[in-house]
Amino acid sequence: MMRLAGLAVLAAFVAAIVVWRLTRPTPEGDGTAMADVVVPDLSAQATLGKTLFDASCADCHGANAAGQDGVAPPLVHIIYEPSHHSDASFHLAVQNGVRAHHWSFGDMPPVEGVGEADVTAIIAHIRELQRANGIK
Ligand code: HEC
Repeated sequence: MMRLAGLAVLAAFVAAIVVWRLTRPTPEGDGTAMADVVVPDLSAQATLGKTLFDASCADCHGANAAGQDGVAPPLVHIIYEPSHHSDASFHLAVQNGVRAHHWSFGDMPPVEGVGEADVTAIIAHIRELQRANGIK
């Protein structure tokens, strides 16, 4: 009898978890790319930048900086053209993080372990992607 009660409790617990998983609201957006990014032949520095970007930024900003719906914006976007977001703003973003202001994805935390030279290479990568996509 006790065994049966134990099993019933367990079954109720499992059922509760399943219901919770199924009814939990999904975060807005589904992680799909937000921009159609044309990828050009990259310079040596931009190729290094791509490796660094893939390691430290792409989890949020997506492959080829195309953004991810619900996670983080595309950096290949007119908002991030050099005259609006200078190279310095990229260095500051990585060092200090970014308070959400252009989008509603929340704040970007500072990114640890990415040095100045790394950011310079990442910027080269982003700028080459931007130029290939008509953002100058
Ligand atoms: C944890 C997720 C996350 C990671 C990792 C991340 N970012 Fe971001 N980033 C964001 C979000 C979200 C925003 C948009 C903030 C807003 O609303 O303007 C953003 C904004 C930016 C901006 C715009 C800054 C500004 O002044 O508006 C730059 C540049 C940037 N990210 C570069 C990078 C680079 C380079 C890396 C990797 C070294 C990186 N991000 C890693 C989430 C992330």
